[in-house]
Amino acid sequence: MLGRVNHVAIAVPDLVAAVASYRDTLGATVSAPQALPEHGVTVVFVELPNTKVELLEALGDGSPIAAFLEKNPSGGMHHICYEVADIIVARDRLVQAGARVLGNGEPKVGAHGKPVLFLHPKDFFGTLIELEQV
Ligand code: CO
Repeated sequence: MLGRVNHVAIAVPDLVAAVASYRDTLGATVSAPQALPEHGVTVVFVELPNTKVELLEALGDGSPIAAFLEKNPSGGMHHICYEVADIIVARDRLVQAGARVLGNGEPKVGAHGKPVLFLHPKDFFGTLIELEQV
């Protein structure tokens, strides 16, 4: 069911500082910031030869990463995103297997303009999983 790792996401307290660190210190190519109010985050993508790293900063009140950043004030790995061919087929199979899909269970449009879903970290060894249909 799972395809490639689409990206690994890191929550950061200061996106400008994180971009500078990845671009200037690590020498990576970093995209322009993209505000995603529906997801409560601003994102940039670090482009790597084999995958991407998504840097996330909280956007607005009640951001889903606010509590994470409270527990991890200097930032930390937030989720891993796997590609799937059909997100509805994947969701139905996961729900049938007892996994919990976050939110109302319906895919939202993610940062790449494609449908995404998140799976409860307690069902997957403490790791928040994002599924993206490609
Ligand atoms: Co993501």
